[in-house]
Amino acid sequence: MSQAKIIDGNAVAADVRAAVASQITILRAGGAPLPGLAVVLVGADPASQVYVRNKNKRAAEVGINSFEHYLPAETSEAELLGLVERLNLDPQVHGILVQLPLPAQIDAQKILEAIHPAKDVDGFHPFNVGRLVTGGPALVPCTPLGCLLLAKRELGSLSGKRAIVLGRSNIVGKPMAQLLLRESATVTIAHSRTHDLPEECRRADIVVAAVGRPEMVKGDWIKPGALVLDVGINRIPAAEPGKTRLVGDVAFAEAVTVAGAITPVPGGIGPMTIAILLRNVLEACCRLHD
Ligand code: GUN
Repeated sequence: MSQAKIIDGNAVAADVRAAVASQITILRAGGAPLPGLAVVLVGADPASQVYVRNKNKRAAEVGINSFEHYLPAETSEAELLGLVERLNLDPQVHGILVQLPLPAQIDAQKILEAIHPAKDVDGFHPFNVGRLVTGGPALVPCTPLGCLLLAKRELGSLSGKRAIVLGRSNIVGKPMAQLLLRESATVTIAHSRTHDLPEECRRADIVVAAVGRPEMVKGDWIKPGALVLDVGINRIPAAEPGKTRLVGDVAFAEAVTVAGAITPVPGGIGPMTIAILLRNVLEACCRLHD
């Protein structure tokens, strides 16, 4: 039985953060202002609180100023729009991230469209989405960009490779497919209505799983030697009573015996997302001061 290379997302993410930190040091030496990231969290969702704390900690480590805005769960859409407008105008803020999901009384799309595209470090504004599709310079969503970076590190050129993206979300699936297309891969987007998903998967040289279903992708769905990027972060009951554990969207123990390389959960794609966010903040800052 073969054993895939297990990609160390923590190590690659540390490299990305080190590169961001050294560029910020150079900028500071030249008298440039520190890049600033505003993170907005509405409500007290525990998973979101963990993400936001991690983002702020990592930002501080590389020399990015982080401005935290914690708003109560009952915040109105108008209040949040008001905050976004102030952050759009704040010269110390180069990147704005409104943590999703938002409470039901707030139209998330309306908020995302209110963020100035030049400060849209999530890459969710229709301006940046459009630029990604048409090939212009854009701020690109962090998780798919992290996946692309890992794919290029593993495979070099992606030209002509068959890729399948499982999931069609605006945050991961759709931008991932566009990034792979931009690299001249042959891209399939699969979703809940796709017929014979295992067979579609088996044709792919690159599998990106982003469906949020624990261990859905089985070992015999994977083409021998394929690259498997697992975006899923799912908490399931552990063998020990009362305990839980994190698993991805891929049945790792099976897939690792078939794939050529695979990202683990945790320690694969997760750390890449925040590292790329920091890179996006630096990029937004450089463009705003250009
Ligand atoms: N919630 C889950 N992932 C993300 C992300 O990448 N950006 C934001 N803003 N919220 C999220």
